[in-house]
Amino acid sequence: MAHLLTVSCPLNISSKSRSYSKPSNQCSIPSSISISLPIFKSPLKKLATKTNRSQKCHTIYATAVSVGQESGSQTGSMSDKTPNKAPNRTKVMVIGGDGYCGWATSLHLSNKNYEVAVVDNLVRRHFDHQLGLDSLTPISSIHNRIRRWKSLTEKAIQLYVGDICDFEFLSEAFTSFKPDAVVHFGEQRSAPFSMIDRSRAVYTQHNNVIGTLNVLFAIKEFKEDCHLVKLGTMGEYGTPNIDIEEGYLTITHNGRTDTLPYPKQASSFYHLSKVHDSHNIAFTCKAWGIRATDLNQGVVYGVRTDETAMHEELYNRFDYDGVFGTALNRFCVQAAVGHPLTVYGKGGQTRGYLDIRDTVQCVELAIANPAKRGEFRVFNQFTEQFSVNELASLVTKAGQNLGLEVQTISVPNPRVEAEEHYYNAKHTKLVELGLKPHLLSDSLLDSLLNVAVQYKDRVDLKQIMPSVSWRKIGAKPKTIAA
Ligand SMILES: NC(=O)c1ccc[n+]([C@@H]2O[C@H](COP(=O)([O-])OP(=O)(O)OC[C@H]3O[C@@H](n4cnc5c(N)ncnc54)[C@H](O)[C@@H]3O)[C@@H](O)[C@H]2O)c1
Repeated sequence: MAHLLTVSCPLNISSKSRSYSKPSNQCSIPSSISISLPIFKSPLKKLATKTNRSQKCHTIYATAVSVGQESGSQTGSMSDKTPNKAPNRTKVMVIGGDGYCGWATSLHLSNKNYEVAVVDNLVRRHFDHQLGLDSLTPISSIHNRIRRWKSLTEKAIQLYVGDICDFEFLSEAFTSFKPDAVVHFGEQRSAPFSMIDRSRAVYTQHNNVIGTLNVLFAIKEFKEDCHLVKLGTMGEYGTPNIDIEEGYLTITHNGRTDTLPYPKQASSFYHLSKVHDSHNIAFTCKAWGIRATDLNQGVVYGVRTDETAMHEELYNRFDYDGVFGTALNRFCVQAAVGHPLTVYGKGGQTRGYLDIRDTVQCVELAIANPAKRGEFRVFNQFTEQFSVNELASLVTKAGQNLGLEVQTISVPNPRVEAEEHYYNAKHTKLVELGLKPHLLSDSLLDSLLNVAVQYKDRVDLKQIMPSVSWRKIGAKPKTIAA
């Protein structure tokens, strides 16, 4: 998988013998350095501080740096401009904090006065380089993002750059930061990516399953009271012909009744990795008393939150391509550039959706109301369900209001999935905890379309059509969409 994992970027190393270190209290400008490791090892597994060790090596990015100042503080939920002063704030480690959901969540939690550390190996940015993709919105480096946040709000976010599949790195991050809660977004999250070829399928399952296992072991070893808030997906359930419950189903069979984990019917190697994660987490809750919340998230849309809208260096990524783009975001970009909306097959595929502003709210609610020791809690995290055809007609209407001519075409479905089916998924638990949903309104669609129109010159039309087929996946490494 050498092709997956070649990253070169600035790095701050404070120890000669370690590849990462406790964040300093200084706002540092990282210098550039290469780190090598043998190709036969798990590519992001073990870090060595030598360069050019062999020809078969990867250059990777791995360190812990503090971009901004750390100071004392007070637990969660204080007003937006409160600097980090009072003691005993809840410490939240956001794994995958440089990604789409993770960045918005990190800022939201920091704004609510949680003490936040981002842990990320920046591999998502690398996937873009590798596949020739780019976010619709220009995004700053994680270092500049964090520095800008600090300069605007006086709130520091710590940064640990490294791979959670590397347990040594994760242990250092845990023992250094000592989180009260870990929000785990840090996975390869694209179903099409996991279906490109064997190496991406293997990478996805290794990265996601081993990464999560390491997080579980780190909690057990270093902070056993820490609450794990793990991002799962509604896709774990598939599309059964009965109502989908929140994690558990009470069944009477041959006269006996039990409440059991809801059956999982994942439909890609990515979704399967999430199912494996859920099983591992459930087991460790039982065996070790881990406290965990599995957030089975629906498809997220939108790009702006209160915090990311504060400055262009805080802007979030917006994926519209056939590999990482999610349905509604993709349709808005397609409408903006005059490309027909690409409905896969019959378009009756129905899923749960939510605004990114609700993702950050849900995560905060889960942290503020932690699971009990030994509890494996499952929340279905979405606010409304739509079929693909319904989304297409909403975007068509909103586009027409803005003077755009929007057409829809049906393209052969690259996935293996039911195109017309029953779908009724419960999603009450987060509402009971206080979620106030931002429902998909005309005004939100207008603003999403406006973002798409604003950046339409950045759209690469070659990336719009689906390029990965579930049926054509093969063992050989594939190059897609050159
Ligand atoms: N975006 C959605 O619509 C959606 C829907 C349902 C569930 N989810 C889940 O939410 C989570 C976040 O999704 P996203 O859209 O923000 O994804 P993303 O790809 O934008 O972000 C994931 C981040 O995790 C990092 N990462 C990946 N593997 C890592 C590793 N081994 N070590 C350290 N960092 C690592 C990446 O560099 C990236 O910054 C994922 O677990 C995803 O499955 C997302």
